[in-house]
Amino acid sequence: MRESGTGDRFDPPRATAAEARQNSDSGWVRGLSHDLRNIIQSTRGSLELLQHSTVNASQSARVAAAIHGLDEMTVLAERLEEPQRLEPMNWPRVQRHIRQAVELAVGIRPIRLDIIDPGAVPNIAADPYDVGRIFLNLTWNACEAMADQGTITISARVDFEEPRHTASWLVIDFQDTGCGIPESLLPRIFDLHYTTKTIGRGVGLATVKSLVMRHHGRVDVESTEGKGTIVHLGFPAHAR
Ligand SMILES: Nc1ncnc2c1ncn2[C@@H]1O[C@H](COP(=O)(O)OP(=O)(O)O)[C@@H](O)[C@H]1O
Ligand SMILES: [Mg+2]
Repeated sequence: MRESGTGDRFDPPRATAAEARQNSDSGWVRGLSHDLRNIIQSTRGSLELLQHSTVNASQSARVAAAIHGLDEMTVLAERLEEPQRLEPMNWPRVQRHIRQAVELAVGIRPIRLDIIDPGAVPNIAADPYDVGRIFLNLTWNACEAMADQGTITISARVDFEEPRHTASWLVIDFQDTGCGIPESLLPRIFDLHYTTKTIGRGVGLATVKSLVMRHHGRVDVESTEGKGTIVHLGFPAHAR
């Protein structure tokens, strides 16, 4: 018999504070995902109507790109409810996800994308949607730094764990020809809410960092003012 000291009243077992927070977080995220998808769908409906009344091919292409963007948002909103899904990926597959994300983020801006064939590089275990989000965020920053024109160059290489050479990494280098970052600011750029832009939110690089960390990876930035920036992303090599 349980001693409750409260007469006949039944005290249901209480969730710990952590459990309560987790339950309400997951309920909140499910609700958010649902609401986002509804808003996206109604916006998509309006765009579809607009597409039927466009007068020329270039307007129609812009509306089609906006609809495509909303479909990508739907996928992300659905993903809010799902845990991370790691899949073995070889370079051609990683590269496909990178290209899709970069092209989506670049949109109609006159920005050139060069993806350099790296030859033989290790496979990684990664979540394709996380890979997409990393490169969406890097591309938005690159486009802003290049004032919407310039070149994004992506290459990959193998790197070995120092000093014992036990583990290997796939390192992806993402380079832009933008304004660069003053050295004194480099230590702050991954901080949440740190921004140098008037309408920036300072969430992009913090998101990139947390997504890379979720893959037990590493990220660092090298930059020259007036010349451009290179983001180095390291992912542990995966045997398969
Ligand atoms: N490719 C880049 N070139 C120049 N500066 C960059 C680049 N990427 C990030 N930054 C700097 O890092 C800051 C933080 O970036 P981010 O977290 O994406 O937030 P936001 O883009 O909203 O400012 C930016 O405000 C900018 O100063
Ligand atoms: Mg940003």
